[in-house]
Amino acid sequence: LELIVGIDIGGTSTKFGLVDTAGKVRIHSSIATDNPDINVYIKDLAKAIRNAADSLDEPVEFIGVGVGAPNGNYKKGTIEDAPNLPWSGTVPLSDLLNKEFGLPVQLTNDANAAAMGEMMFGGARGMDDFIVITLGTGLGSGFVANGQLIQGHDGHAGELGHIAYKIGGGRYCKCGKKGCLETYVSATGLKRTVYKLLADHHMDSELKRYSFDDLNTKMVADAAKNGDVVAQEAFEYTGKVLGAKLADAVGHTSPEAIFIMGGLAKAGDLIFKPTIKHFEKNLLHIYQGKIKVLPSELNSTHTPIIGAASLILKDIMTKKGLV
Ligand code: BGC
Ligand code: NA
Ligand code: ZN
Repeated sequence: LELIVGIDIGGTSTKFGLVDTAGKVRIHSSIATDNPDINVYIKDLAKAIRNAADSLDEPVEFIGVGVGAPNGNYKKGTIEDAPNLPWSGTVPLSDLLNKEFGLPVQLTNDANAAAMGEMMFGGARGMDDFIVITLGTGLGSGFVANGQLIQGHDGHAGELGHIAYKIGGGRYCKCGKKGCLETYVSATGLKRTVYKLLADHHMDSELKRYSFDDLNTKMVADAAKNGDVVAQEAFEYTGKVLGAKLADAVGHTSPEAIFIMGGLAKAGDLIFKPTIKHFEKNLLHIYQGKIKVLPSELNSTHTPIIGAASLILKDIMTKKGLV
């Protein structure tokens, strides 16, 4: 059985899957992303991957490794200064994995990998121009234009999380700047908004009983559904900022659709309604009513894994003349 290893490196955990050439995840698992020693981390990851392969009841042949990671550089195969990962500076991840497995390795930004997944196996099948936005700890973005995933001159294309929402001030961002979009629009941004609203308005809210670390998107969503005004306002504000900034982003590539995925996207109408409303309101008239804003079609935990694997899969399919 020929399988591709798809790896999605996140701040808390590293998820991986063994993906067959039809894009199906045959088995998946994860390890914590908490070892500051990159060499030990690679050994642990390789061991978990081999264990997963051994648990399948067919003999497995790995044909390549695809990786998505925050601040991933496609051209260099490196992860550079990722604020939410335990390794500082530049990590030569592709080289390390290549030494470990002796296989071709492709690495890109996590949201770019998700965009590949959406293009090959999700709602973007057959689309040449679309944007994927991931809303988790941070805000990630991947752009596909003219049928190609945009990697950029230095391999860092698609970093909408750090465009300025507030200029010359605003919330502190882990990247070292202030006012970045992801400090407002992400799972973390939503929580910051909840705390801001609680501090400003002294309104009664069931969210008051949670500490910042305990609070998550689902709790805010449940509170909003129960009629909690602070929770409802937090979603309204987050969607307003997201919608307006997506309307700006449209001007770069004139997409057919924008797909939203990640923890915050699971809040459904709570986030999609205000986003779509403010998106349409802020669009240049030549775009109005023409661009779909949709939830990702793929199971969101698997999308980045499948997307990472499809970096390798696309090469193979191209060679075989299948795409
Ligand atoms: C990083 C991006 C990443 C996004 C989602 C941002 O903070 O800069 O590279 O795509 O988070 O993980
Ligand atoms: Na990106
Ligand atoms: Zn930033």
